[in-house]
Amino acid sequence: MNRWTSRRARALPESVFLRMDRAKREARQAGRAIIDLSIGSSDLSPPPEALAALKAAVDDPETYGYCLRSGTRPFLEAATRWYARRFGRALDPETQALALIGSQEGLAHLLLAVADPGDVLLVPEVAYPSYWGAAALAGLEVWPIPLRADYLADLEAVPGEVARRARVLLLNYPNNPTAALADRAYWEAALEFAARYDLLLVHDNPYVDLVFEGEALSPLTLDGALERTVELFSFSKSYHLAGFRLGFALGNREALAALEAVKAPIDFNQYLGIQRMGIAALELPEARVRRDVEVFRARRDALVEALAAAGWTVPRPRAGMYLWARLPHTEDDLGFCVELVRQTGVALAPGRAFGPGGRGHVRFALVQPPEVLREAAARVAAAVVGG
Ligand SMILES: Cc1ncc(COP(=O)(O)O)c(C=O)c1O
Repeated sequence: MNRWTSRRARALPESVFLRMDRAKREARQAGRAIIDLSIGSSDLSPPPEALAALKAAVDDPETYGYCLRSGTRPFLEAATRWYARRFGRALDPETQALALIGSQEGLAHLLLAVADPGDVLLVPEVAYPSYWGAAALAGLEVWPIPLRADYLADLEAVPGEVARRARVLLLNYPNNPTAALADRAYWEAALEFAARYDLLLVHDNPYVDLVFEGEALSPLTLDGALERTVELFSFSKSYHLAGFRLGFALGNREALAALEAVKAPIDFNQYLGIQRMGIAALELPEARVRRDVEVFRARRDALVEALAAAGWTVPRPRAGMYLWARLPHTEDDLGFCVELVRQTGVALAPGRAFGPGGRGHVRFALVQPPEVLREAAARVAAAVVGG
């Protein structure tokens, strides 16, 4: 904060990840070897076909200029083709699809586009950290929805007078960090709730391909969903291309038109070569993408089993890149994580980084091979069980 910090910027929540970054740096300086399970950045290799498409594009001068809406058309056609193949519903690439510079960018701008300062945003009390910052930038009043025992947002717990002031219901299944997965009945109830209170249902869906048991559904496939649903997709998790910053939004045309209008003074779309990279990724057979699920499944099993063997039994996630666990001995997740990295070199994400419901929890990101996760588990469980 300084004299140049706007009221909008002052409203941003303090980053718990910056605090962890400092703790990691200090541990490293003290000579500890760090096992970093605190950030969900995939360590697997992107598909070679996608990288080849980008490399070829770099040599094509046609890709060097600003990319306006019409330039994104091949990417949006690939995105809607992918969606039709995957979920059996045809969408119009012209009006029901928009290119994003990652889904995080898309969500932050979508909130600015569809809601006004003071409007209520309904978001689960444990959610991806950027949601809280994006809501603060848009001046929204966040109403954290309590979680049910299965970690799904308990929509019945939202009071009618709050829901009537709300503009957007923001959900994310498979979930980061809880790994919760929503079935068809849940999505139908969520859409019915959104319709009852005239809300835009926003579904952030970057983990659509990372499911071990069960199925990731797309609420856009439900009858009537196109009236009030926007779904965000990402290349960061399915294709391990987080650094390249690419995603797309599908769904309600009015909301996407508002999002496009808000983005217009801010960006010129992602580099065309990266969009071509995305097209190559979307054209891969689904079986190829699913191969990586097995890598994460083996990691999940190694971590859950090693924690249990060391005396800490945690729920086995059915989807996603994370393991979410309640600390049995303390509510002070941040203090625990700072001390853990100092003493053992293992970095986890403190639960409170994900919102008020995250206190007393930690998140492990499955971004290391099984043998490293087993080593981390032994150190963490010793701190928990002994703590
Ligand atoms: C729920 C959720 N949404 C969005 C993102 C960011 O996605 P992108 O890299 O497409 O901006 C993440 C990254 O971890 C995430 O977990």
